Amino acid sequence: MCGITGYIGYRDAYPIIIQGLQRLEYRGYDSAGVVLYDGKNINLSKTKGKVSDLQQKAELEIPTDGRIGFGHTRWATHGVPNYVNSHPHLSQSENLVIVHNGIIENYDTLKKELISRGYEFKSDTDTEVLINFIEEIKKQEKCKLGKAVQLALSEVVGAYAILVFDKTKPDELVIARLGSPIAIGIGKDNTEFFIASDATPFIEYTKDAIYLEDGEMAIAKIGRDVKIYKINEDERVRDFKIQQLQLSLEQIEKGGYEHFMLKEIYEQPTAITDTYRGRLHANEGLIKMSGLDDHLGRFMNANRIIIVGCGTSWHAGLVAEYLFEDIARIPVEVEYGSEFRYRNPIITEKDVVIAISQSGETADTLAAIKLAKSKGAFVFGICNVVGSSIAREAHAGAYTHAGPEIGVASTKAFTTQITILSLMALKLGKEKGNIATSVYHTYLQELLQIPGKIEQLLQEDQHIIEIAKKYKDVSNFLYLGRGYNFPVALEGALKLKEISYIHAEGYPAAEMKHGPIALIDENMPVVVIATKQGHYEKVVSNIQEIKARHGQLISIVTVGDHTVKEMSDYSIEIPETLEPFTPLLTTIPLQLLSYHIAVMRGCNVDQPRNLAKSVTVE
Ligand code: AGP
Repeated sequence: MCGITGYIGYRDAYPIIIQGLQRLEYRGYDSAGVVLYDGKNINLSKTKGKVSDLQQKAELEIPTDGRIGFGHTRWATHGVPNYVNSHPHLSQSENLVIVHNGIIENYDTLKKELISRGYEFKSDTDTEVLINFIEEIKKQEKCKLGKAVQLALSEVVGAYAILVFDKTKPDELVIARLGSPIAIGIGKDNTEFFIASDATPFIEYTKDAIYLEDGEMAIAKIGRDVKIYKINEDERVRDFKIQQLQLSLEQIEKGGYEHFMLKEIYEQPTAITDTYRGRLHANEGLIKMSGLDDHLGRFMNANRIIIVGCGTSWHAGLVAEYLFEDIARIPVEVEYGSEFRYRNPIITEKDVVIAISQSGETADTLAAIKLAKSKGAFVFGICNVVGSSIAREAHAGAYTHAGPEIGVASTKAFTTQITILSLMALKLGKEKGNIATSVYHTYLQELLQIPGKIEQLLQEDQHIIEIAKKYKDVSNFLYLGRGYNFPVALEGALKLKEISYIHAEGYPAAEMKHGPIALIDENMPVVVIATKQGHYEKVVSNIQEIKARHGQLISIVTVGDHTVKEMSDYSIEIPETLEPFTPLLTTIPLQLLSYHIAVMRGCNVDQPRNLAKSVTVE
C-alpha cells in the first residue's frame, strides 16, 4: 500500500505535501516523489528512499513554490524501488501527471496497446501505463480530464486510488478510487482541498472530509463544491456525506486501532484479497503466477522442494510442507535458515529452494539461499518487500501484497505467505495431474471465500478478550494441533511468547504422551486446534487426556461442534473450510488471543522487548 497526499488552494503546497508524506510513511517507504505546478511548469522530483531523502533532493533540484501539487510515498508492487519506478508519473506529453496506490491487473494488455500506438515507457510500473491510457483516451475523445479518467477506469481491472492533474486545466485535481482508500479534506468555503490516503496529512487544517466510495471519481476545483461521479456512469453522486473527523493524528495512522498489530490482524481479509488478486481466476479455473509459470519445469521435475525461513516464515513453510506433499505430491523439507546454512546440506541442481521472508532481509535466510544457489539449486522467493535482498537474490518469486507490516509480530505476512503457497501447491497439483479438475475448482472457489470467513472470525474479538482476561497472568501455555494445524500451534505459541513474554510451547497434539503431558495440571492452559477437518477423532482423544489431568482447555473448533465445546473451558468457533485452508482461519483467534493478553499485561505490543522487525544480522 502506498501513501498519496495532494493540495490545491491558496497556501504553498510543498510544505503541506512533504509533511503529509512524512505522516503517511507508515503506508510505504521505499521511494517517494513530489510534483508542483508553479502556474507555468510542472516541477517534479522523486527518489528511491524515504521522504527525508526526497525533501533533500527536491529542495536542490526544483522550485518548490506553487499552490497545487501532490506527493507519493511508495510500497512497491510492480517494479523494484528506484528513481524511474517511483511516483509521480508523467504522461508522454508531460501535460498529465498521476500518483497511484493499488494494482492494475490488466496493465500489460493496456501497455502493449499503447506501445502499438507509439507510446514509450520509462518505468516498469502499472501507474505509468494508466496515465498514458488516460492521455490516449483524452486525445481520442477530445474530452476533459475527468471524463477521460472515467472512461479509462471503466476499462481498468484492479485496485486504485489515484490523483491526476492536467497542466492544460490547472485549476482542478481529479481523484478516483476502487479498492484503495482516499479522502478529500474540504477547506473553508471550498477555498482549498486536501487529498490523501487517510486524513493524517490534513487533520490540522480541516475536520471536514469526504471519503470516496469504491467506483467513484471526484473533481476538486477551487471555489466550487466537490463534484463526485460514478466511474461507470455520467450522473453525479449527490448524496455523499461530509464527515466531521474526530480521530487524533496517531489514531488515524493506526487506522483507528490502538496498535499496528491489531490493525494488521484486521487487514488480513484485504491483504489476502490483494495477494491473490490477478493470480486466482477461480471462474476460469486458472492460477497465474509469472514467477512460477516461467519456471514450471523446475518445479515439475524437482527432486524435492526445500523451504527455508525463520520464525513465522518458517511456520508458513511448515504449512507449505503439508500443502505441497498433500496436493502436489512433491517431496518437501522445511529448514530454519540458520541451520541450513551451516549444516553442509546436500543440495543439487534438481532441488528447488523456496525462501519465505516478510522483510526479505533476514540474514540467515539470505545466506541459506546464497548457499543453495552456489550448489545449483533453483531459488524462488516469497517476500513482502519488493526489491528486498532475498527477492533480488532469488531466481524468481512472488510478492505477498500485504502492505507494510509495522508490528514486529508477523500476522498478515503469515496468512498472505500461506495464500501464495496454497496457489503454488494447487497449480502444481493440477499440472501434475494429482488432483481431479472438480476438486481443483472446489479449492479455487473456497480460497475466494477465505477473506469473508476471516471477516466473520474477527467478530469473535470480544469473546477472545474474555478468554484473555482469564489467562493473562499465567506463566505457561501449551498449543496443540495436528496435520495442517500443527504449524499453527507453533505459530500461536510464538505470537504469545514474543509479545506477552509468557512462556508457550507448540506441539503436535499426539506428541503430548511423549513427555509434555507431564506439564498438565489445573494451572496449565492448553490451546487445542480441533477443527472437524483432519484427524478430528484423534484430537478429541488428546483432549480427553488433557481433561483427565485437569488441564484448562481452550479449543478452536469448527462452528457447530458442540462435542469439543462441552469439553472445553473456553472455545472459539471458526467457519467451515477445506482442510488445507484451515491454517488461514485457525491462526486468527490465536493472533487476537496473544494480542489481547499482551495488551492486558501492559506490554509494548508493536515493539516487544529484545526484538527487531527484521533480523538482518546472524
Ligand atoms: C514473527 O512474529 C517474528 N517477527 C519473527 O519470527 C519473524 O517471523 C522472523 O524474524 C522472520 O522474519 P522475515 O519473515 O522478515 O524473514
